[in-house]
Amino acid sequence: MRITVLGSAAGGGFPQWNCNCRLCAGHRAGTLRAAARTQSSIFVRADDAADGILFNASPDILQQVKANAAVLQPGRGLRDTAIAGVVLIDGQVDHATGLLMLRERGRPLPLWCTDPVAEDLTTGNPILRVLGHYCGVERHRIALDGHAFEVPGVPGLQLQAIPLQSKAAPYSPHRDAPAPGDNIGITVTDLASGRRLFYAPGLGAIEPAVFDAMRAADAVMVDGTFWTDDEMIALGLSRKSARDIGHLPQSGPGGMIEWLARLPTSTRRWLIHVNNTNPILDEDSAERAALTRAGIGVAEDGLEIHV
Ligand code: MLT
Ligand code: MN
Ligand code: ZN
Repeated sequence: MRITVLGSAAGGGFPQWNCNCRLCAGHRAGTLRAAARTQSSIFVRADDAADGILFNASPDILQQVKANAAVLQPGRGLRDTAIAGVVLIDGQVDHATGLLMLRERGRPLPLWCTDPVAEDLTTGNPILRVLGHYCGVERHRIALDGHAFEVPGVPGLQLQAIPLQSKAAPYSPHRDAPAPGDNIGITVTDLASGRRLFYAPGLGAIEPAVFDAMRAADAVMVDGTFWTDDEMIALGLSRKSARDIGHLPQSGPGGMIEWLARLPTSTRRWLIHVNNTNPILDEDSAERAALTRAGIGVAEDGLEIHV
C-alpha cells in the first residue's frame, strides 16, 4: 500500500498562527531547521490504485489537496477526486472539521466513524447535520468488535478498528465520561501483500490489545504529540498534562519510545500528530537525535511511504 502523509502536526499545525514559542518563532525567523506542518491526516491506497481512503479530514484539507494534487486529484472528469471515502479516528476539530471543506461533492460523502464520534458530530459539533444541507453524508458505522471492513471503491485494502484510551473533543456531550470508540486506532491490511499499517495519531495509553495490533503491523504511525507529559504546563500554555488530554508523551518511563523499542526490529516506526511545542520538530535537537538513534521517524507533510 501507499501512504501519503497529508498533515503531520497536531491541532493548530506548525507554526501555529498565534504561537511564539521557541519552535514557532524559530521557524518564522528561519533560524530553525524544522518543516512546516499542516494538521493530522493521511491518505492510503493500494499499490496500483488511484482511489484511496482519507484518514481524518483536517481543516487544512484544501491546502493538502493542492500540495498533493498528483495523488488526490487524478483529473478523470469535470469533477473528480481520489478520495473514495473518509475514516475518522476521533471527532476532534483537527480531524473532523475538514469534512465541511468537501461539501461540493455531487454525491453524499461516504464516511466511516464510531457511534460516539457520530454522536459528537451531530450534537456538540453538528458537522454532519450541516453537511446535510450540501452533499450529505453516507455514514457507515465502525463497530468495535474488531471485524474487518472495506471501503467500496478502494480495492485491496481491509480495515480493522480498535478502541483506544485518548479523549473525546471538548464539545463532546460525554467529554468527561469516556466511551469506547471516542478514539480508535486502525489497522490497514493490503490484501495483495498481506502487509499492515497500524495508525493511531491520538493514543493516550498502550493497552495490551493495542500493543498486539502494533506488534502485528509492518509499520506503525502513532501519536507524536508531546515529548514530555508536562510540556504545555512548563511553557505556561496549559494546566493540563499530555496524558490528561489523551496523548502518551514520547520520553520518560512508560513513554512512547519505550513502547516502540519493544516492537520487532523489522517494524517501521513513525510519529505523527506532532504538537508545535514538541522539540522533535527541531531537526538539530537532542530529542530528534534520540528518536533517530531509536529508529523512529517523524512524519512530514508530503511524505510517501510504501508498506
Ligand atoms: C488533540 O488531539 O488533543 C487536538 O490536537 C486538540 C485540538 O485539535 O485542538
Ligand atoms: Mn488532535
Ligand atoms: Zn509554538
